[in-house]
Amino acid sequence: MPITEVQQRIGLSHPIIQGPFGGGLSTVELAAAVANAGGLGSFGAHILEPDGIDALAADLRAATDGPVALNLWISDHDPGGDSLSSDAYDAVWPVFQPFFAEYGLERPEPQRRYHPRFVDQVDAVLEARPRVFSFVFGIPDRSILEACRVRDILTLGAATTLAEAEALDAAGIDLILATGFEAGGHRPAFLEPPENNLVGTLPLTRQIASRIKRPLIAAGGIADRGGIDAALTLGAGAAQLGTAFLACAESGTNNAHRDVLFSDRARQTVLTRAYTGRLARGIPNRVIAEMEARADRLPPFPVQAWFLGHLKRAALAAGDEDFASLYAGQGAPLLQHRRVGDLMADLTAPAATHVAA
Ligand SMILES: Cc1cc2nc3c(=O)[nH]c(=O)nc-3n(C[C@H](O)[C@H](O)[C@H](O)COP(=O)(O)O)c2cc1C
Repeated sequence: MPITEVQQRIGLSHPIIQGPFGGGLSTVELAAAVANAGGLGSFGAHILEPDGIDALAADLRAATDGPVALNLWISDHDPGGDSLSSDAYDAVWPVFQPFFAEYGLERPEPQRRYHPRFVDQVDAVLEARPRVFSFVFGIPDRSILEACRVRDILTLGAATTLAEAEALDAAGIDLILATGFEAGGHRPAFLEPPENNLVGTLPLTRQIASRIKRPLIAAGGIADRGGIDAALTLGAGAAQLGTAFLACAESGTNNAHRDVLFSDRARQTVLTRAYTGRLARGIPNRVIAEMEARADRLPPFPVQAWFLGHLKRAALAAGDEDFASLYAGQGAPLLQHRRVGDLMADLTAPAATHVAA
């Protein structure tokens, strides 16, 4: 198969990108394993403070010479989510109080802020000089894009609609990610509420490929070789896989989550604001049921994620996944591999020897 423009620009042996995972689920080991196998490894750094990004960059450099993307969220707070007045805190605490009590947890102290700021993080990314700076939930300022160009860092922005892809194109972003609603994790819309445009990977990739002359990557529901071949046929120059890499032992998720990904429960995924306050896809469990029942009282991102972080850690420590965020895309029932080496070998097998499932 000829080398695509995405492969040429990034320097990839294979048209495969490991999607970044925020929330502590990326690891250096995972990104390095993918980069060393000829794909693009990615690390989701949106919850790291700048000094954490500095340390991460050093660890990545030590682990691989291959291409790696660092990933941030441009919009880092939803309205009302940057700090909570004590009245606002008192108003939302009753939503969580019974569950905290169930796990024997105290009422947590309100924080000065609940998430790092993109404006503070981005300098650390520029300093790290990754091959690719990938981002979701918006477009960086022109000065940041210029700083990337000067440092020879490629920019990769996510679109959930044709209009978002046009906005990325107009801003001069190097590579566009078409992220269909089948994808695991958050729906990173930035022009309209995500519920307004739940476009699938197939029509989104075709729409963008037919209108915009930029290297394109497809994501959402792709979990095997057949999916990658389909993405290339649609006009993408690479596929970005999230769930398939999340399921590997090298990712930062927990074994309870991995076991559910490989079970029949993964045949159903839903879009929910339960995990963080922003719309995301995952496998139904108790936390979704409890939070959806209180949907009109949930605090905005990132405060919702902060409260649930306490419950998730306590639940997993107690040996249950009731409050774990079971992120998954619609490709989960296709999962077959638990190690990156096995997954990459299967995804990159020569066409002649590859046996379609
Ligand atoms: C647990 C999880 C966390 C994710 N976090 C991020 C993130 O921080 N930044 C980002 O750009 N994409 C993130 N994504 C999206 C993935 O990088 C990828 O685009 C998506 O998973 C592809 O769809 P698939 O899961 O159907 O393969 C996340 C996905 C998952 C499953």
